[in-house]
Amino acid sequence: MRTRPANTENTANTEKVDPGLLDAALDRAILPGYSRFGLWVRRRAQPADSAEPAAMRGRTAVVTGANSGIGKECASALARRGATVVLAVRNRARGEQARADIVAACPEADVRVALCDVSDRDSVLACAEKLNDELARVDVLIHNAGALPSEREENAQGHELALATHVLGPLLLTDRLMPALTSAPAPRVIFVSSGGMYAQPLVVDDPEYRHGRYRGATAYSRTKRMQVALTPLIAEHYAPQGLSDVHSMHPGWVNTPGIAASLPGFHRLTGPLLRSPAEGADTAVWLATTSTTLPPGRFWHDRKVRPEHYLRRTRYTADEVERLWRYCGTTVGIAVD
Ligand SMILES: NC(=O)c1ccc[n+]([C@@H]2O[C@H](COP(=O)([O-])OP(=O)(O)OC[C@H]3O[C@@H](n4cnc5c(N)ncnc54)[C@H](OP(=O)(O)O)[C@@H]3O)[C@@H](O)[C@H]2O)c1
Repeated sequence: MRTRPANTENTANTEKVDPGLLDAALDRAILPGYSRFGLWVRRRAQPADSAEPAAMRGRTAVVTGANSGIGKECASALARRGATVVLAVRNRARGEQARADIVAACPEADVRVALCDVSDRDSVLACAEKLNDELARVDVLIHNAGALPSEREENAQGHELALATHVLGPLLLTDRLMPALTSAPAPRVIFVSSGGMYAQPLVVDDPEYRHGRYRGATAYSRTKRMQVALTPLIAEHYAPQGLSDVHSMHPGWVNTPGIAASLPGFHRLTGPLLRSPAEGADTAVWLATTSTTLPPGRFWHDRKVRPEHYLRRTRYTADEVERLWRYCGTTVGIAVD
């Protein structure tokens, strides 16, 4: 087994973070920090966009769950910057509608639709094969597709749906897209996680949520935690093949069809405070496009590295993350040794 520095314990990460007093206070005071107010305060101190408006020309981006909300905004922003963008979606009609919307706003955009249900192994394999065949390279892969199940469901392969959607599918897609990713000179992979993960520990002994009373919000946040915990290991695993630029981020609270449908009460109460989809997509788009050298494997929000823990009870050891990595890697067929 590899010996891993206790990065996963995250004291090191947290020590390096220097968010400034107001910024740090906003992070801890969740309501203002994750709202549009937080973004408004931080905007003044954020690293700038590329000065080149078509900075992504000649590059290709794949965005999962790109027919709605944050994913659609990521796709649209990357297409406006000149990238060829593939909307990896599970429903062709919704994907085509999103493509039409993006092209209507930016007629020169090169936007394509590919079918990919990220929770389903066969669909991910078929999508990866098609993209490897059709694209000369993939410079950016954004794992955005997300869902909050109302009850425990399993995919066709018998895996709990939130785990399959947020962790297993993205791992498999990354692994199988390596030919196209490593054909790009500096490929980047970005996980759209959630601030909800701050409340959840890493559940290594029951990743499929077979035990205890199932709550969709818990399953969602646990698997968003897993994304953040696994990001450094994914970066380390693929670095020898040329992919170390792997990052996770959270968008804050964003007014999207997803949040309106899955948390209607929250959506009603907080409506005016929520960020727009474009504001929610901002950090993912910035991570995808910046020419700044990014430290690999870190967790970002509002264009800044953020701590991965605020609560002592969510901390985990390097050994626990390694065990989760082995479970997930073995499940999807990645050689994890
Ligand atoms: N909105 C927020 O406040 C917030 C906060 C934290 C994190 N996030 C994260 O941001 C991401 C985007 O969410 P959103 O708020 O923009 O929600 P959204 O509007 O519901 O968009 C979610 C997208 O994911 C797609 N999707 C779900 N399951 C999929 C699957 N198995 N395969 C392929 N696509 C799938 C959906 O496709 P369909 O249209 O076919 O359902 C939809 O396009 C998610 O990962 C979410 O967890 C959002």
